[in-house]
Amino acid sequence: RTAGPLAGKKVVITAGGTVERIDPVRYITNDSSGKMGFALAEAARELGAEVVLIAGNTQILPPAGKGIELERVQSAQNMYDAVMSHFDASDIIIKAAAVADYRPAVQADRKIKKSGDTLTLELVKNIDILEQLGQRKTRQFLIGFAAETHDLEQYALDKLRRKNCDLIVANDVTSEGAGFGTDTNIVHIYDANGLVQDLPLLSKQHTARRILELAAQRLSGAQA
Ligand code: PMT
Repeated sequence: RTAGPLAGKKVVITAGGTVERIDPVRYITNDSSGKMGFALAEAARELGAEVVLIAGNTQILPPAGKGIELERVQSAQNMYDAVMSHFDASDIIIKAAAVADYRPAVQADRKIKKSGDTLTLELVKNIDILEQLGQRKTRQFLIGFAAETHDLEQYALDKLRRKNCDLIVANDVTSEGAGFGTDTNIVHIYDANGLVQDLPLLSKQHTARRILELAAQRLSGAQA
């Protein structure tokens, strides 16, 4: 048996960007590299958890080996289905993935041919995975992320409340060394009462460790 504050706990983590297909050779995605979500998966394993890592499009290799079960997904809908299939058994769910808010209204089954001078792509709203989790949660400890370019605290707290999260990890993606693609991050962690922790510029590994330690502490407090 593994030791550590998360021993015996199942932690579900999403990482990377979703891929929303336009046609067989084209798609919409974003700049998420997977680094933040992968670092969270490793940190959770180090603290003793059984990890399910649900990864979309990523730029680096996922962590492998004992204690981490990897599932690859493409679209937001695929990610939703994967997360939900583990929902009942999970103790902590962390949504570090950058999920597309919209997808093409139609996915062409043949390559779209060049024709007129303009081409309009109609987008429709994707399901909000975090919001669904927030509505459904019973004992699950839910951690969302918020990627913002301005008014970080206001938007983060709004997401926390709207999506019924226990914690929200906000990163200002315009700050040097924070957000998409970098090896480091600068995060601010909030709960329903406001700011919990302002972390300095740290590697994504150290940031992940601090987030998981806080979650473990909150979880054991809730059970005590
Ligand atoms: O992968 P890296 O290159 O290391 O970059 C890390 C990161 C910048 C992607 C990460 O730190 C981060 O901020 N992830 C969340 C990105 C995001 O989509 O944020 P958002 O503010 O748009 O969404 C808020 C929350 O709702 C997120 O937890 C997101 O996973 C979730 N969401 C959003 C839309 C949707 N349809 N379903 C969701 O579950």
